[in-house]
Amino acid sequence: MRILICGGAGFIGSHFTRIRLREHGDQVVVLDKLTYAGREENLADLRGDPGFSFHAGAIEDAAAVRAAVQGADGQAAVDAIVNFAAETHVDRSISSSEDFVNTNVVGTSVLLDAALAHRLRYVQVSTDEVYGSIEEGTFTEESPLAPSSPYSASKAGADLLVQSYAHTHGLHTSIARGSNNYGPYQYPEKLIPLMVLNALHGERLPVYGDGLQVRNWIHVTDFARAIGCVLESGAPGEVYNAGGPDECPNIEVVRRIIELTGAGDELIEYVTDRPGHDRRYSLSSERVRGLGWEPRVRFADGIGETVEWYRENRPWWEPIRSGAYREYYERQYGRALG
Ligand code: NAD
Ligand code: TYD
Repeated sequence: MRILICGGAGFIGSHFTRIRLREHGDQVVVLDKLTYAGREENLADLRGDPGFSFHAGAIEDAAAVRAAVQGADGQAAVDAIVNFAAETHVDRSISSSEDFVNTNVVGTSVLLDAALAHRLRYVQVSTDEVYGSIEEGTFTEESPLAPSSPYSASKAGADLLVQSYAHTHGLHTSIARGSNNYGPYQYPEKLIPLMVLNALHGERLPVYGDGLQVRNWIHVTDFARAIGCVLESGAPGEVYNAGGPDECPNIEVVRRIIELTGAGDELIEYVTDRPGHDRRYSLSSERVRGLGWEPRVRFADGIGETVEWYRENRPWWEPIRSGAYREYYERQYGRALG
């Protein structure tokens, strides 16, 4: 297959790109704006692979999308679009929603028009957060959309647009909704890499509110493989949830990271809660299991490997921690990184 992977220089997109090239022998074109969260280093090992090419550009820029989708003859140069490109951090969406609407909603509409022009297969990467919070039980694909944050509202808006192109134009679209991902190459604004790097540096570990919010953790390679199953076998217009095998309250995740890094409990600092904080996410993944997918990595194993990856890959995170991330951190947490 020839696949245009939008947002392929980010966390999940880079894993998906590597898996499709290395394990499936696909031809891959990555289109990525290289925002603060997207880095060509995430794909460094794929440079020079004859099946891989990279375009710098934004998904809301129709000319950039056309250049990535079409060959010189005006014909489609790809068979499918898989869209990972997004603004992804809830806390940033609370500070300002503008980039979230531009990329997540407007960008998705531009990609859908490009897919429609060439009748391309289209897979939208989405999130459990579009369903909102669930204190007990589990969301299915039939659960109503009730997003809480500007981030999840923009993702829900994009999902509805995708559904409308399937319904109105008969475009073969599918949506894959994942739970909280973790693993190598995750930008350290998210809970797990933030806590790992702070613990390794002896910095405070900022736990929002009471720390008893629950997340359903999925290893990034498991979500990437679920998206691959949806791409290959997903039914037109269908939604597929992919949740991880384990759920865990945030404070237990932080305590496990403390154990794995050899840091001390005194680093834990309870800070002001996130406004509108969702209490719990939980996904039923029966439908994607029906496509032959199942998660392979238990949280107890994956968290250990993830901590080891950050410990061993200082050249990956050092430029982040010494760059613009410092200003973000100080704005968000009201304290400078040491
Ligand atoms: P990320 O923030 O690590 O990467 C996002 C990528 O998109 C970056 O490479 C960035 O440069 C690129 N990008 C941003 N705006 C762009 C634009 N306008 N045009 C082109 N490229 C742009 O994100 P991630 O964690 O890898 O998430 C990928 C997708 O998966 C997102 O759609 C997200 O909503 C979804 N998702 C994430 C999680 C999670 O736990 N991280 C869970 C479920 C779903
Ligand atoms: P996050 O990684 O931002 O993912 P999401 O909000 O999309 O679930 O946060 C995961 C959980 O960790 C969430 O309940 C918020 C909490 N959290 C903290 O307690 N402290 C932090 O510094 C961060 C970034 C998150």
